[in-house]
Amino acid sequence: MQEKVEMLCKEIEEKISNITNLKDLTDLKAEYMGKKGIITELQSGIKDAVDKKEYGMQVNTVRTTFNEKYENKLKELQEEELNRKLESEKIDVTLPSKRIRQGSKHPMTRIQEELEDLFVSMGYDVYDGPEIETDENCFQKLNLPIGHPARDAQDTFYLENEYENYLLRSQTSTGQVRVMEANVEKGPIRVVCPGKVYRRDDDATHSHQFMQMEGLVIDENVSMADLKGTLETFCKKLLGEKTDVRFRPSFFPFTEPSVEVDATCFKCGGKGCPLCKQTGWIEVLGAGMVHPDVLKMSGYDPEKYQGFAFGTGLDRFAMFRFGITDIRTIYGNDVRFLNQFTKGDEHNETK
Ligand code: PHE
Repeated sequence: MQEKVEMLCKEIEEKISNITNLKDLTDLKAEYMGKKGIITELQSGIKDAVDKKEYGMQVNTVRTTFNEKYENKLKELQEEELNRKLESEKIDVTLPSKRIRQGSKHPMTRIQEELEDLFVSMGYDVYDGPEIETDENCFQKLNLPIGHPARDAQDTFYLENEYENYLLRSQTSTGQVRVMEANVEKGPIRVVCPGKVYRRDDDATHSHQFMQMEGLVIDENVSMADLKGTLETFCKKLLGEKTDVRFRPSFFPFTEPSVEVDATCFKCGGKGCPLCKQTGWIEVLGAGMVHPDVLKMSGYDPEKYQGFAFGTGLDRFAMFRFGITDIRTIYGNDVRFLNQFTKGDEHNETK
């Protein structure tokens, strides 16, 4: 028995030392320690042994030898495996990284944010209304009943079928109606409504989609003088302190009286150039005192409240600020165009 045990131990030692992978080691464990394994069988021989104590001790020696060698080999192989993994998954930190291209804000977003900041600093809220609107909000409640000739200047896109009554808003003046109606207390309002608007136009200076910003102030004792002061401040802040502003009588169905506001040409400074058609002036805003009927239609008492409203096209400011000559490029999504507006430009803007 002693001899047999020594041989077995030697055999185990040899076999385990020759093993080079985990699978073979597991197989070997089954061969010796499995249900029908060599050591297991040897152990069950105890019942026929003469000296059971001695027999048990001998079997134990084989078992301990196996376990010890097995555990050592297992550790060794696991370590090898780990090293192999570390080696193959190594990251070379000296490799040059992939270049991450930083995007930049769209020129229209920049102009919109600049104008919002300006009005917020003057105490205005910002309201962002929907682009799909009802005929009521876009026209009727702004004193443009069905069939009114002034609708022609704002022909837009209409949604058919289940949305029969809906259209793409042709002006942000819809924001006026929405803000007035939402104000349940029918109290004072000071708000700007920037956003996209749509019309059936398409040439170098007119796009079927463009951006406006509407302003609405409602309070007691609001007069044309407040409107003039506000818009003068706005134009000077946006276009430069030297900018002159002039008001021309005009017509909008929702304001009375109505004006169009011109600023000194931002290209030639008032001397006359192709941009201002040699007049020295550029039209920048439509404005006026909110028509009493418009106030009434949205639940305001025109005896108590007055208001002024103005609307301006943001694209014109962007064209001036960034030297864009064709409005359609603003909405073309051409990356060659957009790439020109890198972040650094924000600090070099001329006012
Ligand atoms: N909504 C008008 C337009 O698009 C501009 C405007 C707004 C005029 C507010 C007067 C008051 O032309």
